[in-house]
This record gives sequence, C-alpha cells and structure tokens, in this order.
Amino acid sequence: MTKNFAERTVELSRTVFDSFQLTPPSLKAFCIISLVKAMEWMIVYFTRSGTCERIAKKIAETTGFRAVRLYDDVNWSGFLGFMKAGFYALTGRRTKIEIEEELNADRFVLITPIWAGSITPAARTFIEHFGPSKILLVTVSEVTKPEDVSRSLKKKYNLLGVHGFTKKTNESEVMRQLVEKLQKI
Ligand SMILES: Cc1cc2nc3c(=O)[nH]c(=O)nc-3n(C[C@H](O)[C@H](O)[C@H](O)COP(=O)(O)O)c2cc1C
Repeated sequence: MTKNFAERTVELSRTVFDSFQLTPPSLKAFCIISLVKAMEWMIVYFTRSGTCERIAKKIAETTGFRAVRLYDDVNWSGFLGFMKAGFYALTGRRTKIEIEEELNADRFVLITPIWAGSITPAARTFIEHFGPSKILLVTVSEVTKPEDVSRSLKKKYNLLGVHGFTKKTNESEVMRQLVEKLQKI
C-alpha cells in the first residue's frame, strides 16, 4: 500500500528522532548549538557620523546579537566627502566594502544612514553581495521616512523588511517593534 504524505512525514520524523536519541550527548549539543547559530542574526552597520553605530550597539545590547561595522573604500569626511556622499547615493553607485570581522550568521540587520533619499553605496553593495532575502534593513535619517525608502527599494530588492529611525520617531518604540520582528522572522 502506498503511504500518503502525512504518513511519510511521521515516519521520517520518527527516524530522525530515533537517530537523535542514539547520538552521543556531545554531538547532540553540537547539533543544537549549530542549529541555533544558523538561525542567528548579525547586526551590520555603516556610519559616517556615528548615529548608526549608536543604534546598532543599542540593538546589540537588547538582543545579544553581535554588531559589526561595515567600511568602504571612500573617504566621506569633510565638505567634499559630504558632497561626494550625496552624489554617489543619488546616482546609485556602489563602493568596495570591508567588514571588520567574519560574518557567521544567516540573516543580517543592516543599518545605514540615508543619503539624498537613498541608502548608502556600501549598503547597496552589501545587499547585492549577501542577498536581499537575508536582510532586514534599518534606515537612519533626519526626515526621510523608512516607508518611502522601502517603496523605492521594493522594485529592486526583496528585503525581509524595512524599519527606520528619523528625528521624529520614538526611538524606544521603533526599537521594541524591531526586536519583536527579529524574534518572529
Ligand atoms: C550626504 C548626506 C545626505 C543626507 N541626505 C539625507 C536625506 O535625504 N534625508 C534625511 O532625512 N537625512 C539625510 N541625511 C542625514 C543622515 O541620514 C543622518 O544624519 C544620519 O543619522 C547619519 O547617520 P550616521 O551618523 O550614522 O552617519 C544626509 C546626510 C548626508 C551626509
């Protein structure tokens, strides 16, 4: 008699469970740790003047996830850097990126400032390198709303979501929503 899908699923679960019971405790612990680690998030942030770093560290403190800094190969400091930043963002440029340590997570919270209504060139490179489906984007800006950034990015990237902080948002409330979302996804 051929087994239906439900019966086959039950049988397979039993086999997995039985073999797990026979597994030595040390290997069991290793499996569990690897599984939890595989589902972990890492916080990756780019910053020019420090706000994204402050927010990244606050999220890291609340969640226990690691926060690592993303660098690129352009000097954004001073007036010239400011002008260059606006131009690069407006024209959708990418920059070469470097991350301060190895990334060992499946999913990332990417925190970036908003420049000229767009995400930074380094954030663009990061999304395209690691894949939008693994990334929850967090925008930090003066007035540009995350919904507007999300709308303009939607056509290009299928992100896990977009949250954001502006001067007007209630930081603790957005932080709470963000942490809740990280636990749900
Ligand atoms: C070149 C440039 C362009 C910016 N454009 C915008 C903008 O379009 N909308 C906005 O709300 N904020 C804009 N900002 C402000 C930054 O998004 C904001 O100050 C952010 O908190 C900076 O993050 P950081 O301190 O981590 O670099 C701009 C800043 C720079 C340097």
